[in-house]
Amino acid sequence: MSAPIRIILRALAVIAIMVAPTAHAQQSVETQVTKRILVAGATGQSGKLIVTALLEKGFTVRAMSRSAERAASLGDGVEPAEADVTDPSSLSSAMIGVDAVLSAIGGRRPIGSNGFEAVDWEGNRALIDAAKAAGVRRFILMSGGSAGRDGFLYTLPIAPYPWKAKAESHLRESGLDYTIVAPGGLRDEPAGRYGVRLTTRPNYLVGQINRADVAEVMVASLMDGSTIGKTFTLINDDTLVPDAWRTELATFPAD
Ligand SMILES: NC(=O)c1ccc[n+]([C@@H]2O[C@H](COP(=O)([O-])OP(=O)(O)OC[C@H]3O[C@@H](n4cnc5c(N)ncnc54)[C@H](OP(=O)(O)O)[C@@H]3O)[C@@H](O)[C@H]2O)c1
Repeated sequence: MSAPIRIILRALAVIAIMVAPTAHAQQSVETQVTKRILVAGATGQSGKLIVTALLEKGFTVRAMSRSAERAASLGDGVEPAEADVTDPSSLSSAMIGVDAVLSAIGGRRPIGSNGFEAVDWEGNRALIDAAKAAGVRRFILMSGGSAGRDGFLYTLPIAPYPWKAKAESHLRESGLDYTIVAPGGLRDEPAGRYGVRLTTRPNYLVGQINRADVAEVMVASLMDGSTIGKTFTLINDDTLVPDAWRTELATFPAD
C-alpha cells in the first residue's frame, strides 16, 4: 500500500472514531424523546423536580394530578392528565401511550379518604395494576426509607411506613420491571450538593436527603436497565463525592 493511501486510510479511521460517539449520543437522545413518562404526584414537591429532571433529559412528560389545572401549570412542555388514585377507573386513560410510570404520590394525612392507607398503599396499588393492565412494563416508586421497619412508631397504622411497605411488596410481586427509591427525611437544597449513600434493605439509614437528589436517582434509574429489581434506600452523606452514586447503580445488589 502506498504512503498517500495509508495516510488517507488513517485519517478516515480517526474521523470515524471522532464521529462515532456523536452519532451514538444523538441516537440515545432521540430514543429518550420518543419515551413518554407518566409522573404520578407531578405537582408535589418531589414530583415537580422529577418532571424538571425528565424534561432536561429529553423525555416527554405526562403530569398526573387530581387537578388538570395544577398539572397544566407545570409548563407548556408537559401533558396534563387528571386522575385520582383513589378512583382506579380514572387511571386507565392516563396510561395510554406511556412507556414508564414514576410515582411520587403521597397522602398528607394519617387517616381518611386521602390518607396514607388510601394513597400510599391503595393508590400505588391501583397505579401498579393500571400500568400492568395497560402493558406499561417499567415502574419506579418513590417510597420511604423506613417502610417496613420494625418498631412501635414504624408499624402504627397512622404512620405512612406500613402502607408504603405494602406498596413496595405489591410492586415487587407485580412482575413489572420495577425500581424502588426509598429516601430518608426530605429537604430542599439543590441536587449534587452532597454525596448520596445508597444501601439495601433491611439496612435502615437515619438521615436526610434533598428531594432534588432523589429526583436525579429516579431519572438515572429510569435510564439504566441494571436498576430493575433493586431497592435503593438513600440519604445524603457529605463525606461522599457528590456524583459517585451514579457509578454504583449498576453493581448495587438486586432484591
Ligand atoms: N416528607 C418526608 O420526609 C418523606 C420522606 C421519605 C419519603 N417521603 C415520600 O416521598 C413522596 C413525595 O413526597 P413530597 O413531600 O415530595 O410529596 P407532596 O409534596 O406531599 O406531593 C404529594 C403528591 O401526591 C399527589 N396526590 C395526593 N393524593 C393523590 C390522589 N388521591 N390521586 C393522585 N395524586 C395524589 C399530589 O397531587 P395533587 O394534589 O395535585 O393531586 C401531589 O402531587 C411521598 O410518598 C412521601 O410520603 C416523604
